[in-house]
This record gives sequence, structure tokens and C-alpha cells, in this order.
Amino acid sequence: MSAALPLALDPYLRDWLDLLLRVLHVIAAIAWIGTSFYFVLLDQSLRPVEKAEDAADGVAGELWEVHGGGFYRVQKYRVAPPRLPDHLAWFKWEAYATWLSGFGLLIVLYYLEASATLIDPRVADLEPWQAAASSIALLAAAWVAYDVLCRLLARSDWALGVAVLALTAVAAWASSELFAPRAAWLQVGAMLGTIMAANVFFVIIPAHRELIRAKEAGREPDPAAGIRGKQRSVHNNYLTLPVLLTMLAGHFAFLVTRDRAWLILVALMVLAASVRLFYNLRHGGRTIWAIPVAAAVAVVALAVALDEDEPSSGAPDPALAARGATVFASAGCGGCHTLAAADASGNVGPSLDALRPSASRVQGVVTAGKGAMPSFGAKLTGDEIAAVAAYVSSVAGR
Ligand code: HEC
Repeated sequence: MSAALPLALDPYLRDWLDLLLRVLHVIAAIAWIGTSFYFVLLDQSLRPVEKAEDAADGVAGELWEVHGGGFYRVQKYRVAPPRLPDHLAWFKWEAYATWLSGFGLLIVLYYLEASATLIDPRVADLEPWQAAASSIALLAAAWVAYDVLCRLLARSDWALGVAVLALTAVAAWASSELFAPRAAWLQVGAMLGTIMAANVFFVIIPAHRELIRAKEAGREPDPAAGIRGKQRSVHNNYLTLPVLLTMLAGHFAFLVTRDRAWLILVALMVLAASVRLFYNLRHGGRTIWAIPVAAAVAVVALAVALDEDEPSSGAPDPALAARGATVFASAGCGGCHTLAAADASGNVGPSLDALRPSASRVQGVVTAGKGAMPSFGAKLTGDEIAAVAAYVSSVAGR
């Protein structure tokens, strides 16, 4: 196959698909994550039943709630109620819609535009079809590896937690070796999101179906199916914030373009999961303030450590900056930006004279793009980007 996939979309159509899929993705994800937060809160907050006959019916616990102008009393059965109700609410389409719209976005923005978004020749010089196939294969591999770990380590939540963290770190590292910096982060989010959706599709919903089949056949349902579904449901709850954070942070060039950005990603995901741990314990009656405090300290420590990691802001190499002036002109930066030294007065993006960005800031945004600014990661070499960064940072505001 040649440089571009044969199916390249018309840019106008692509923009509409991007908009509609993105809106659907965000809305479905809000519904899904909200449901996950709510049901885990409910499970953690259940109190012993008040009425003896409810307990005799197999009710394990209940929660009184007040919301939207009224009182609710929600009861959870240990396995299943004595008689199946006529109407039963299911929760699955928010998960499926989130995954389908997310995969649609991957196709529209990353697979059909692989040369511009998914591939960075300085990371790995892949053909577009190779990059798209690797991305899809990694999504499937993430689920298979996770599912095998869950079966092998079913007995120990701690061992499984450590194994899933290791799997995430491998995924983050592998993505960073294959894809452009920003795509690499989104790929990790997509892999964890795939695990979550597959948990619903392959484990949780089948477990619910099994409970219902058993009741209908007059058998006593095997609690093991429900317990397996519950375990995956709790995993999904812990994955919500790390995935959300990956999807959002992937848009920030100052993080994704760093050396060893994959390690930063793993650290941020652990911090995000710790927020879930805090709330889940709190809803179960144990408030451990040390968790969010430690997470906040860790974020500040990370910010400070990364700041010191920046190359020292000594005067840029004049020869490099001189070459950067040529790159600035040939890449068309001046069409969008004002920079007096280059006689440029574009006003699509911010004035570089007013912004006076550091070299590393220019390098980050030129490599990965930002908002309406296109990425130059695939169009310019690493040396050209370093040169234009040296040039802009040395002449801006003069
Ligand atoms: C098509 C128009 C366009 C071109 C071409 C363009 N930029 Fe930008 N640039 C933008 C826009 C729009 C923003 C604001 C992005 C935002 O903050 O969402 C931006 C932001 C920036 C920033 C600030 C980033 C930050 O950290 O806030 C820098 C620095 C920059 N561009 C440098 C460059 C350089 C150097 C080039 C040439 C290699 C270039 N731009 C080419 C439109 C462009």
C-alpha cells in the first residue's frame, strides 16, 4: 500500500464526523462514568436492611437517598430476588456507545490520517496501514492480556492491581515506541477504554444474563457469575479517571513531547486511580485524607521535577537559530503568527512577540500541534524543529 490509505476523507466530511463522533463520545462517556460512580457509591454505602422480611427475601443491604425532590430506598439482593420483576433496567449502551464512537474517532482522525497524526518518522517509520494495524492489534492484545491476568490472579486483588499497572506501563512504553507523541497517549487511553467496554460486553452483561437464565429455569443462580461481574465492574470504576485523564492530557504538548513521556503518563494514571480509591473507601465509611494529600503533593513534585528537566535556557546556538529563520519562512509560521524579526504579521495564532515562548515550548507545540495549530511533527525533521524553536525563542519580543 502507498503513502496514503485509499479511503482518505474529504476534509469537510472529516470535520463533521469529528464533531459528531466527539460529541457522542463525550456524552456517552459522561453517562457511563456517572453510572459507574453511582453504582459503586451505592454498593459501598449499603446499610443493613431494616425489615426482617426483606432480609428473609435475600436483600443484602439498602440505602436511603434523597434527590430530585423525593426519597428513594434502594435495595440490593445477595444474588437474585425470589421472583424476577417484569421490568428490569440494564446498563450497557452507555459503554458500547462510548467505545464505538471512540473507535470511530480513531478511524477518522488517526487511521485515515495516519501520516499526519499517528506516525512520527522519528519514532517509527511505519506505513499508514502498519500504524493502523498496530494500533488495532494493541487494542485487542490489551484486552486478551488483561483478561488472562484477571483469571490467573482472581484470588488476590493486590497482585492483580500490580499486574494491571505493569500491563499499563508496557502499553504506554510500546505506544511511545510506535506512534507520534500525542497519538501514543490516546492509544493507551483507547487500550484501557477497550478493556472497560470489553468487561461490560464479555463478562458483566453475560453474568447478568446467566443470573436471569438460572432464575427462569428455576435453578438457584450461581453467585460466582455475579461476583465475577462485580469484580470487573470495580476495575472499570478504577479505570475511569486514568482513561479520562489520558484522553485530556494527550492534548497538552508540554507533557506528551517530553523524553520518557510514557513514564509521566503512568505516574498521572496512578494518581488519578488513587482519587477513586479515596472516594470508594470514603463511601464505605473510611475517609483517608492522606490519599488526596499525597496525590496533590505528588502532582506538585512532578511539576517541579519536570521543570528542572527542561534544557537550561542559556543563549541558543546562533548557527541553529540562523537555520531556524529559514524553517520559519518555509514552514509558513508567519502566515499565522506575528514575529517582527521575521517581518511576519499573521494573526490566526497568538503573536510570538507578545508570547515570548521558551525554545522548549515552541518545540512542543510545533511537534505535536495545539488547538487550531497543525502539528509539524511529520513535516519537519527533529533538527528543523529544534532550529525554529531556537530562532523563535531568541528573536521573539525583541
Ligand atoms: C495554520 C496556522 C498556524 C501555523 C501555520 C502555525 N501556527 Fe502556531 N499557532 C496557531 C494557533 C491557532 C495557535 C494557538 C493554539 C492554541 O492555544 O490553541 C498557535 C500557537 C503557537 C504557539 C504557542 C503555543 C503555546 O504554548 O501556547 C507557538 C509557540 C507557535 N504557535 C509557534 C509556531 C511556529 C514556530 C510555527 C511554524 C513552524 C507555527 N506556529 C505555525 C496557528 C498556527
